[in-house]
Amino acid sequence: MRAVPAQRDCSVDSKNDKFRLVMRILSGVQPSGRQHLGNYFGAIRQFAALQEEGDSFFFIANLHSLTTVQDPEKLREFTLDAALTYLAFGLDPERSTVFRQSDVPEHSELFWILGSLVPLSHLERAHSYKDKVSKGKNPDFGLFSYPVLMAADILLYAADKVPVGKDQKQHVEFARDWAIKFNQTYVDRYDPADPNGVENGRPGIFRVPVASIQPETATILGVDGQKMSKSYGNTIELFASDKKVKKAIMGIKTDSTAVEDPKPTEGSALLSLLKVMANQNDYRILEESWRAGGLGYGHYKKTLLDLFHATFDPARARRQELEGDLASVEKVLQRGAERAREVASKQLSEVKLAVGLA
Ligand code: TYM
Repeated sequence: MRAVPAQRDCSVDSKNDKFRLVMRILSGVQPSGRQHLGNYFGAIRQFAALQEEGDSFFFIANLHSLTTVQDPEKLREFTLDAALTYLAFGLDPERSTVFRQSDVPEHSELFWILGSLVPLSHLERAHSYKDKVSKGKNPDFGLFSYPVLMAADILLYAADKVPVGKDQKQHVEFARDWAIKFNQTYVDRYDPADPNGVENGRPGIFRVPVASIQPETATILGVDGQKMSKSYGNTIELFASDKKVKKAIMGIKTDSTAVEDPKPTEGSALLSLLKVMANQNDYRILEESWRAGGLGYGHYKKTLLDLFHATFDPARARRQELEGDLASVEKVLQRGAERAREVASKQLSEVKLAVGLA
């Protein structure tokens, strides 16, 4: 029997993933529709900031989107939208590895291996699955097994930090649980109390990731007051036409409080969007006037529209430039996939050896 490579002495070896000193960051967005304010504030804004802090991998989760987008033209269009969004918001291909999930077949291969030890009961209590079923979606295997593919995405790159919105927290926790379960199953004398082998130098094959969630922007509300989501049709898209953005913002659901009256703060989508878009000082002034009354909701919607343009117009202009050079965008994705495969194939080889497939 061949030895499992994780059973080695602990020495600081920068070429060895298990003992690397640089933090690895990984996350993705689904191209299941056009990217929106929730994706930006919950995730993409963090990506751009975090790429300065470590070795970063940001991908377009197009395999995941097969569970919801069954029109091939649309899937291609939304995949390109996600790539343009990443680049327009400053993901720098010189610093970060930006790629399409389907260009790295190791994701699907690890999905099966990992799925072979995932308890069904975990998948049955997945919030996003239960939420979709409760909203009337007829569940298929793809939707049900989705957290396993997501865990494979994360574990394949031995990610330390996974920047996401709150709705993905449980999925990252599953990835942690399954990484530990896999390590316990396949790595001799693995110590779950020291999951990354920092104390005793016996790292698992899988590194145990941590979700990074910004409390102030963990859940961005949509125009109807529910969580903003492509699947609820309540989004404000980042790159829609000026007209469409205006229509979405002016259509934010409000109650019938009269212009002169104080406005209720609880559960207001409009106020919560103003909070994420305005700087602290401006928000304080806005909130004071909101509580005092005297201005109608139309006034606040107009303020939100101005904030939208002040915040996003630079990225919107950048995206237009990128649209004029799609060949370069494609090159970025292909180079990204090559680099991603280098890392992913090494990890998968180690996994295959450990389980007896190699
Ligand atoms: P997705 O495509 O639904 O969303 C992409 C990212 O945006 C965040 N997000 C939000 N944050 C705050 N408020 C909102 N209303 C809001 N809507 C979306 C999501 O939390 C997410 O961070 N399963 C993932 C994609 C994925 C992934 C991965 C992420 C696949 N594999 C591996 C991290 C690591 C998803 O469906 O995201």
